Amino acid sequence: MVAARITVNGKETPIAPAAPHTTVLDFLRDRGLTGTKEGCAEGECGACSILVARPGVNKPTDWVAVNACLVPVASLDGQEVITSEGLATVDESGTPTALHPVQEEMAVRGGSQCGYCTPGFICSMASEYYRPDRCAHGESSEAAEADAEHGPNGFDLHSLSGNLCRCTGYRPIRDAAYAVGSPAEDDVLAQRRDQAPPEPASTAYEQDDRVFLRPGTLAETAQLLRDRPEAVVVSGSTDWGVEVNIRSRRADCVVAVDRLPELRELRVESDHIEIGAALTLTEIERRLDGSVPLLAELFPQFASRLIRNSATFGGNLGTGSPIGDSPPVLLALEASLVLADADGEREVPLADYFTGYRQSVRRPGELIRAVRVPLPLSPVTAFHKIAKRRFDDISSVAVAFALDIEDGIVRKARIGLGGVAATPIRALATEALLEGRPWTAQTVEAAAEVLKAQGTPMSDHRASAGYRSAMLGQSLLKLYAETTEAVSS
Ligand code: FES
Ligand code: FES
Repeated sequence: MVAARITVNGKETPIAPAAPHTTVLDFLRDRGLTGTKEGCAEGECGACSILVARPGVNKPTDWVAVNACLVPVASLDGQEVITSEGLATVDESGTPTALHPVQEEMAVRGGSQCGYCTPGFICSMASEYYRPDRCAHGESSEAAEADAEHGPNGFDLHSLSGNLCRCTGYRPIRDAAYAVGSPAEDDVLAQRRDQAPPEPASTAYEQDDRVFLRPGTLAETAQLLRDRPEAVVVSGSTDWGVEVNIRSRRADCVVAVDRLPELRELRVESDHIEIGAALTLTEIERRLDGSVPLLAELFPQFASRLIRNSATFGGNLGTGSPIGDSPPVLLALEASLVLADADGEREVPLADYFTGYRQSVRRPGELIRAVRVPLPLSPVTAFHKIAKRRFDDISSVAVAFALDIEDGIVRKARIGLGGVAATPIRALATEALLEGRPWTAQTVEAAAEVLKAQGTPMSDHRASAGYRSAMLGQSLLKLYAETTEAVSS
């Protein structure tokens, strides 16, 4: 097996002797690439943003921005990375001769003061600059024109939702984002998108009796997990990275499954959609392109673009957090999980999957291979996330609705809740009250009272139990107001 290595700004660099838990951020800074900054070390500030060459949605390669503080460097074995230092034009001696267009716009529009956040903003902006389907108004961009969060150049401001700045203020940064043009013909990174990204390497990187493994196939992974059931499985590492950095957790064996081909398919069948558990949320969002409206409503509210570029359904469901944002939505969609191990596969409804706080029916050695969403979809859907910030935050309460309303009667109601019990739950009593009743203010007010009493919410630093209960009821009233507004307008 080839020694683990990573290509940074065009230069191949061995990963040894970094420890298997070493993040890309620490790896880069230890080698003098100190443009990549540490702000929070838990995926919330974006100061550590870098670009990675990944399989593209509209071109063979996308330059994807990720949080370097959460990614183990061993997980990028064989991969290509660009840091803020690698964006400027350099001469043959390596001396910078011209700023990159996004650097130029940030400089001339006053988008940087102390500069600590700037390299992270630059990398997130560069990722959006190179997004192949970014197009200016007038270039068949109806969605962009309808969305106040896109600039006239098609720049999606959500690409910066994971980058925080403490001193400049965001207006000059937005000005810079909305001023960037399109890559020039001879732009090397733009040209790079036309070739395939590096294949995932089969990695067995060992240092000091700890090992990071990336098996090549599902069968190999299943056998490995049978032999080593204590291994920590990562699929994006946005949760495990926090454990490593903030709680100093270490594992003797980490197994990465996020590039397994069997976990990266998206298929639309006649009666269901199957979504690979290791597709990133950004990939799912772009591939589904709004065809599952409830998921389309979830994605912009799920953490930040930087996190969604790495996070997966497999990871979000595998950690079993009661405040993960995907379970309420997937419960409302009546999704099921395909679990796989060395003996084969089984399908488990998500409603039966969680058994307790961060516990599930998933057996040791079993992987989430895919999520299945049954078709047809219920036409009336909504996802209400109650949190302190609109983006880049953790839910206090999350509520997802999927209703069939025919001739004014609720034929079917599915409601998923997060943040009100030890596990994500279905609001079964509220569903039962709604079904068969007219979709009227009277029904909804009665159902909202029942919904307020669902779950066993607790008080913590995010919200009180009383607030959480009140928000459940409000959420249904809000949905009713939205649907009747839609009918009357
Ligand atoms: Fe804050 Fe990585 S250091 S997101
Ligand atoms: Fe100082 Fe953004 S320029 S934190």
